[in-house]
Amino acid sequence: MNYKLLEFQQMGDDRGHLVVLEEFKDVPFEIKRIFYIYGSDQSVVRGKHANRNSEFILINVSGTSKILIDDGKTQEVVELNKPHTGVYISNMIWKEMFDFSSESVLLVLSSHVYDKTEYIRGYDEFVKECRNG
Ligand code: TYD
Repeated sequence: MNYKLLEFQQMGDDRGHLVVLEEFKDVPFEIKRIFYIYGSDQSVVRGKHANRNSEFILINVSGTSKILIDDGKTQEVVELNKPHTGVYISNMIWKEMFDFSSESVLLVLSSHVYDKTEYIRGYDEFVKECRNG
């Protein structure tokens, strides 16, 4: 399964915490895009797509959410619940984000700029493309 749980160094002192993410160091790709998702309540399921090219790091910088990670064969669920932890997800992984807490802010770093043609939005199509390599 092509994902990895990440724990980032906290540069804390008595003023609070600070986490630094640098490309090719803490993040295994050049950061081309940043977006964040908030205001999604508990009943919402987001994502439901795979990306042919983009790799991602997801971090709940506030609150909590769960991420379903599916490589076309196996499914796993990861809970994001600390600002200094995250998950790396490779390309060609089906993702669903759900169970957002009310204060959830899900920060996403990506290796590619947005290109809607690299999104696979149908699960059957995703499984077919996985099989065809
Ligand atoms: P969508 O992919 O449905 O969000 P999620 O994966 O969180 O469910 O994107 C929502 C809208 O935002 C959709 O109209 C596409 C647009 N969008 C961009 O324009 N650029 C981006 O980088 C992203 C992630 C989405």
